[in-house]
Amino acid sequence: MSISPILVITGASKGIGFKTALKFLGLGYRVINLSRTPAPHDDIENYQIDLTQPDAEAEIKSFVDTHLKKTKICLVHNAAMLLNDTAQGTDSASFKDVLNLNVVAPHILNQHIIPFMSEDSSIIYIGSTLSEKAVSNAYSYIVSKHAIIGMMKACCQDLAGTGIHTSCICPGFTDTEMLRQHVGESVDSLAKLSTFGRIISPSEIANTIEFAALNPVINGAVLHANLGQVES
Ligand SMILES: NC(=O)c1ccc[n+]([C@@H]2O[C@H](COP(=O)([O-])OP(=O)(O)OC[C@H]3O[C@@H](n4cnc5c(N)ncnc54)[C@H](OP(=O)(O)O)[C@@H]3O)[C@@H](O)[C@H]2O)c1
Repeated sequence: MSISPILVITGASKGIGFKTALKFLGLGYRVINLSRTPAPHDDIENYQIDLTQPDAEAEIKSFVDTHLKKTKICLVHNAAMLLNDTAQGTDSASFKDVLNLNVVAPHILNQHIIPFMSEDSSIIYIGSTLSEKAVSNAYSYIVSKHAIIGMMKACCQDLAGTGIHTSCICPGFTDTEMLRQHVGESVDSLAKLSTFGRIISPSEIANTIEFAALNPVINGAVLHANLGQVES
């Protein structure tokens, strides 16, 4: 009996991650979510974990050894933290928390999951428009989202010949809790910053993640999914 392909995704309890999990369930994947709270769907296997904690690596190793077999895997590094912080005002403890979730956790997951990936597997990083540009008041997030592009590109080179492909999807303003918490009530005013005059839906980003995962020709690539940002 053949083993189903597996989606391992971080942060699928809500937002872009949840819509991506639903999409892959529809494709017949077994879906495993890693986040602090569970995804609200019976067919998603939830592994509850705080990826900022020092014991996260030991927990991930134990989860992988118990739950994975060598098969086609799509690993999506989606969970992230966005703080309102600045270069001059960020203490090292909160800076480390952001890097632990946004950069170190993807590295740990890669280390432990790549050995279980057969050919046709993929690693999809979720970056941001802020992976390639900077604004004020999002210092640690911008540092981490730039780093993710470097990790994706280095992965592509180191995985040459394995049949595993990788890419970084960079969403623009997408209607999720993260965006609403960051900008507050002014979220709708962000619509004018897209050439389509609207905010992106999480399903549109999920569709883009699916496209990147299913097409190995997209390898080592950065894909911006932002409806065309209006440049000032
Ligand atoms: N929304 C946007 O406008 C936008 C724009 C550009 C890029 N992005 C990127 O898109 C990705 C998804 O963001 P989103 O907008 O969908 O955010 P979201 O709705 O706030 O979801 C964030 C997810 O990360 C998980 N998470 C947060 N802290 C965690 C921790 N310590 N340990 C484990 N899981 C944790 C959350 O689950 P729990 O709370 O259950 O742990 C949640 O499932 C992120 O990489 C983000 O940077 C979003």
